[in-house]
Amino acid sequence: MVHQPIYLDAHATTPLDPQVLDAMLPYFTEHFGNPASVSHAYGWAADTAVKLARQQLADAIHADPEEIIFTSGATEANNLAIKGVAEAYFAKGRHIITVATEHSAVLDPCRYLESLGFELTILPVQSDGLLDLTKLEAALRPDTVLVSVMAANNEIGVLQPLADIGAMCGDRHILFHTDAAQAIGKVPLNVQTMKIHLMSLTAHKVYGPKGIGALYVRRRNPRVQLAPQLHGGGHERGMRSGTLYPPQIVGFAKAVAIALASQDSESHRLTELRQTLWSKIQQGVAGSKLNGHPIQRLPGNLNVSVPGVDGQALLVGLQSKLAVSSGSACTSATMAPSHVLMALGLDQELAYASIRFGLGRLTTWAEVDCAANHFVETVKALQQGG
Ligand SMILES: Cc1ncc(COP(=O)(O)O)c(C=O)c1O
Repeated sequence: MVHQPIYLDAHATTPLDPQVLDAMLPYFTEHFGNPASVSHAYGWAADTAVKLARQQLADAIHADPEEIIFTSGATEANNLAIKGVAEAYFAKGRHIITVATEHSAVLDPCRYLESLGFELTILPVQSDGLLDLTKLEAALRPDTVLVSVMAANNEIGVLQPLADIGAMCGDRHILFHTDAAQAIGKVPLNVQTMKIHLMSLTAHKVYGPKGIGALYVRRRNPRVQLAPQLHGGGHERGMRSGTLYPPQIVGFAKAVAIALASQDSESHRLTELRQTLWSKIQQGVAGSKLNGHPIQRLPGNLNVSVPGVDGQALLVGLQSKLAVSSGSACTSATMAPSHVLMALGLDQELAYASIRFGLGRLTTWAEVDCAANHFVETVKALQQGG
């Protein structure tokens, strides 16, 4: 039997929870109806399931069900939020603010708008990955229509101060969007207390199915306008046309409900596992460096750089036993150093020699032990020229 490497890449994706699969299955076969079919029981059954899921997801972030717009994932939700607001508020202003460490699903739509004539400010972060709020405040202008700052970073796990950002934007009547793809089900999210106007979500980082996500769009205080990016049958209050996909929607809501039920205990467990992994690595590898704020981060995230080792060789050395990610991303045929790590001030070589560990619900103490040992042994072998 081939041994699978230990899965420590929970920021990339997570396995589907079997309870989620069970909840989804009837909606592929027995209840296959189109939720938009209002004239018969097949449609009603699917619609009832979608309504319940919408309510569960809204509850998870303290929103109203009509404020949830289903999308194919967080990439689409980010695109809809950013392009949709830019288009709808064109007459008010053309200035958008985001942050250097955002996911490309935020940065790229922003750059696209810049190419169309919008003005874009990309704020730097501090060396711990946190946004400097004085820099944000200084960047806000009367013609700023949108500030987009992620809830939790997908590489370094850093949690941005959403409530402070929300208050700052709210005071100035500027819309605040947050990409919470990595945060939902892991850290508390409250669109009311955090004064969030738009929030992107996805299911597959929280043991739900791939290909489903949502955009929260505030309806009151203020009512956010959004220009649809997909036109058609007028689904989702006209903001996102396309037949809804009940199995995925039911699975998404179930996954989030499961995660919320154990959020506190799981957060505590993962924090302990991550701290143990980090202590073992620190003890075993002299000079190893933690990337991102030590405390203001996702419980299951550890991002470590090892000065003086070749990043590619490190990743190859780890691959047989560990499924982890490196501080680089494939862009076409070339490997580019991570823009997130570069934004923290790391040089290219150190960014390459960085490993992201994503601990998740299935991660055990034995796996963390094994991962730490294998990491330390691999680094030592490389340092000795092995
Ligand atoms: C922070 C962040 N935003 C957006 C995405 C894209 O999400 P999806 O895969 O649902 O399109 C991801 C996933 O990689 C992510 O980590």
